[in-house]
Amino acid sequence: MYSLLRPALFQLSPETAHNLTLTGLQTACNLGLSGLLSSTIPDDPRTVMGLTFPNPVGLAAGLDKNGDCINGLAALGFGFIEIGTITPLPQPGNPKPRLFRLPQARAIINRMGFNNEGVDALIRNVQSSDYKGILGINIGKNAITPIEQAADDYLICLRKVYAHASYITVNISSPNTKNLRQLQDEAALNDLLSLLKAEQGKLADKHGKYVPLTLKIAPDIEGEQIAQIARLLMLHQIDGVIATNTTLSREGVENLPYGNETGGLSGAPVREKSTRVIRQLDNHLQGALPIIGAGGILNGADAVEKIEAGAALVQIYSGLIYRGPRLISECVAAIRNTH
Ligand SMILES: Cc1cc2nc3c(=O)[nH]c(=O)nc-3n(C[C@H](O)[C@H](O)[C@H](O)COP(=O)(O)O)c2cc1C
Repeated sequence: MYSLLRPALFQLSPETAHNLTLTGLQTACNLGLSGLLSSTIPDDPRTVMGLTFPNPVGLAAGLDKNGDCINGLAALGFGFIEIGTITPLPQPGNPKPRLFRLPQARAIINRMGFNNEGVDALIRNVQSSDYKGILGINIGKNAITPIEQAADDYLICLRKVYAHASYITVNISSPNTKNLRQLQDEAALNDLLSLLKAEQGKLADKHGKYVPLTLKIAPDIEGEQIAQIARLLMLHQIDGVIATNTTLSREGVENLPYGNETGGLSGAPVREKSTRVIRQLDNHLQGALPIIGAGGILNGADAVEKIEAGAALVQIYSGLIYRGPRLISECVAAIRNTH
C-alpha cells in the first residue's frame, strides 16, 4: 500500500506528509482498522536490558515526538517504539522549512529543533494509549535552558516519565540544539551520567521498578572519544547505548538539492559512519552493555550489518520514509536468518 501512497506523499512538503501520515495512522487505528496496517512480522524475541522484545526492530526517536500515535505505530509491528525527544516545557522548534528529503541519496536533513508539546502532554498520550509493548521515552533539554543547566532538564524529564517508560533514552546528540553535543565531552558526560544514575536509583526504590537508562550518541565522534564514552558508560553502569543520531557530515550529498541545508543528515549516507561507531563501541564494551544500532537502515542487509557490528537491537526512521512499513518485516526476517 505504501508504494501507492508514496508518490502522493512526496508531492507534499515533508512536514505536511509527516503530519498527514501520523494522523492517518492514528485515525485508522481509532476506527478499528489496525488489522489493515499490520503485516506479518516473524517472532524473534530478544531479552535486552532485562526487557523482552518481541523482535529486534524498533522505531527510532523523533518520528512521534509527543507520543500522539503510539497505537498506530504499534500496529505496524515494531518490536519496540521510542517516542520523544521530549523536553520539560513545550517548545515550537526551529522555523519552517526544517525538514528536507534528498531522494537521490535516500536521505533526510532535519533541523526540527525538538519541537514538542512538553513532557506532561507526552505522559497524557502514553496514559491514553493501549500499547502494552516496549516503550522507550527519549528525553532532552529545552532550547532556552543554558547548557550548564542541562542536567536539570534531564532530571525533570527523568522523574516525570519514569513510571511510564520501559526504558529512557538520554539524548545528548541532536545537532539542532545549541551546544547539546558538548555533553558528550568527558567531564560534562561524567557529571551528567553520575547525576542521572543516582536519580535512577532513587526512582527505582520509589516506584519499585527498575527502568533502564540508555544514552544516545552522535556518529561524528572518533577513536579516543568513543573509548572515553565507552569507559564512562561502564563506570556509571548505564544500561544501554543507542548509536547513532544524525550526522553533520555532508559527504555524498553536497551536490544534491537541499544537500547543504543546516541540520542532521540521516538515511543511507549515515549508514557507514554509524556502523563504524557501533563496531568501535563494541570493541571497548565487550558486551558490558548492549548497543542499539540506528543509522541508514534501508533494507534487511543494512540491519544485519548493524547486528554483525555488535548491536543487540536496531531502530529505523529514514528508511520508513523511503521504503514504508514493509521495511520492518524485511529487517526482522533478515536478522532472524542470521542465527
Ligand atoms: C526528522 C527527524 C527527526 C528526528 N528527531 C529526533 C529526536 O527528536 N530525537 C532523537 O534522539 N533522534 C531524532 N532523530 C534521529 C533518529 O532517531 C535516528 O537516530 C537517525 O535519523 C538515524 O537513523 P535513520 O538513518 O534510520 O533515520 C530524528 C531523525 C529525523 C530524520
